[in-house]
Amino acid sequence: MQTILTESPETAAGFLNRGEVVAFPTETVYGLGAAICHPEAVKKIFLAKGRPSDNPLIVHIRGKEDLPSVAGEISGFARKLIDRFFPGPLTLVFRKNPDVPDSVTAGLDTVGVRCPSHPVAQEFLRLACCPVAAPSANISGLPSATSWETVHRDLDGRISCILKGGPSDIGLESTIVDCSGQLPLLLRAGAITLEQLREVVPETRLAAPPDKKEPPKSPGLKYPHYAPSAAIVPCAPEESVPAVPCSAYIGIGEAPPGVEKAKLCRDLREYARELFSFFRQCDDQNIRVIYCELPENHGLGRAIRDRILRAAGSYQC
Ligand code: TXA
Ligand code: MG
Repeated sequence: MQTILTESPETAAGFLNRGEVVAFPTETVYGLGAAICHPEAVKKIFLAKGRPSDNPLIVHIRGKEDLPSVAGEISGFARKLIDRFFPGPLTLVFRKNPDVPDSVTAGLDTVGVRCPSHPVAQEFLRLACCPVAAPSANISGLPSATSWETVHRDLDGRISCILKGGPSDIGLESTIVDCSGQLPLLLRAGAITLEQLREVVPETRLAAPPDKKEPPKSPGLKYPHYAPSAAIVPCAPEESVPAVPCSAYIGIGEAPPGVEKAKLCRDLREYARELFSFFRQCDDQNIRVIYCELPENHGLGRAIRDRILRAAGSYQC
């Protein structure tokens, strides 16, 4: 299959509306979209990414007006979160509208819904014939793609079209909050922080760490994630680490002596934006070990920490 590269939302939406799979930019990471009114296109997403079919997709909408077409009942606290954070890097999980195909939700009776704020994503969704199911646009298990070039490397020849935009501003996937119960439950940390959520709904809780006996609330959390080929080694700020050949460092503090490659970030925002792109660069340069400074479990640090620990193979939410 030939993969068309375009900067035109019209061209990209044309492919989508004909039942093809299209990658598009968002403020979090690039998405791999299919129109939910074309269930056969939704199946192509799973094939292109090599994604397990029991892992549900997030549905992307133009704005609040599209919510009734995908979600069932919306509670009072969910309305408050929508009013404060849509459009933006937040996915809310609701009981689903029966019209949403099972292939999107992997048979669950809930659906994750997000309204991206990226202007190109907004334009693309406005031209789409219906809401757009989209996971991150990477081969399953690899770090999410934060540039169209990375999408192209992973998915060239496997999808019909890539809508080119600049690099993703946030660089980590959206915050996911389950709103299908009595109170909001944070399933995945992201750029909308727990502290910000609690400013709007103080009772917002953290999902319990996964338990081997019970399936995780968010099915995707059970799969290995975000991992480059290099070994990820979390480290404390200024910790002295063994000097090994072909090693690299990313963090806010000073790099340990002896590393071959280092990315020193000014703040947590830059750290989030650069993390996945740094993982990819390290793989290109045959780096074997990546030391990652673990930020504190607070604010945006919670999301960065979560992705580093997952990439290292040790879970924490
Ligand atoms: O920022 C993002 O969220 C990006 C952009 C493209 O929107 N998307 C993204 O999708 O990260 P994906 O598929 O890579 O991650 C979505 C996560 C998965 O872990 C999935 O299991 C979970 O959301 N999820 C989807 N629907 C769910 C539901 N109904 N209940 C619980 N978790 C759900
Ligand atoms: Mg993903």
